[in-house]
Amino acid sequence: MADISWELFASQVDRCTLCPLHSGIHNKVPGQGDIHAPLMLIGEGPGQREDEEGIAFVGPAGQLLTRMLSAIYLPRDRVYICNVVKCRPPGNRTPLQEEMDACKLHLRMQFALVRPKVIVLLGSTALKATLGPEHYITRDRGKWYERKGTWFLPTYHPSALLHDPAKKKEAWLDMQSLRDRLIELGLYPDLYNLSEPSS
Ligand code: URA
Repeated sequence: MADISWELFASQVDRCTLCPLHSGIHNKVPGQGDIHAPLMLIGEGPGQREDEEGIAFVGPAGQLLTRMLSAIYLPRDRVYICNVVKCRPPGNRTPLQEEMDACKLHLRMQFALVRPKVIVLLGSTALKATLGPEHYITRDRGKWYERKGTWFLPTYHPSALLHDPAKKKEAWLDMQSLRDRLIELGLYPDLYNLSEPSS
């Protein structure tokens, strides 16, 4: 991908009409966070609050995500957070394959710009859209996948944890595994130190 920039990304998302989702929304939700972060999190698509505010993961699932990250000392603003689709599907339904395909252009550009070392896939949609439709979240969560030097960790979507708190135990194992991988890759101290005041 040549000559890409965050300005190009922002205007590309802003002007996007590649699928019908753009017609019924209040705001596009491109994603946000630290654009130099070694860690990227990918969710499914904006919900109601995200659509209203134009920011990913600000509703109840987002608040849980913030707590999950802080449980392993990761300040939320030091990671990059986005979704498979940038427009809210009506009634929060799962995005259709053609909507995800259309939006892949934007996700690819985000990936190329951030160049994360580690990507957490939040839920089935992010898992299938990124690693392939043959994957299942219940079977594959907590497993690490390496693709061209980038590490991927599928885990439950925070909304699934809100609906079924019994899943939280496995989600906590996944967060610990994430912490351990970041330590192993030498990334954890960087992320952690950023949250501490410099002397
Ligand atoms: N669920 C998602 O997948 N993404 C958001 O931004 C909010 C809820």
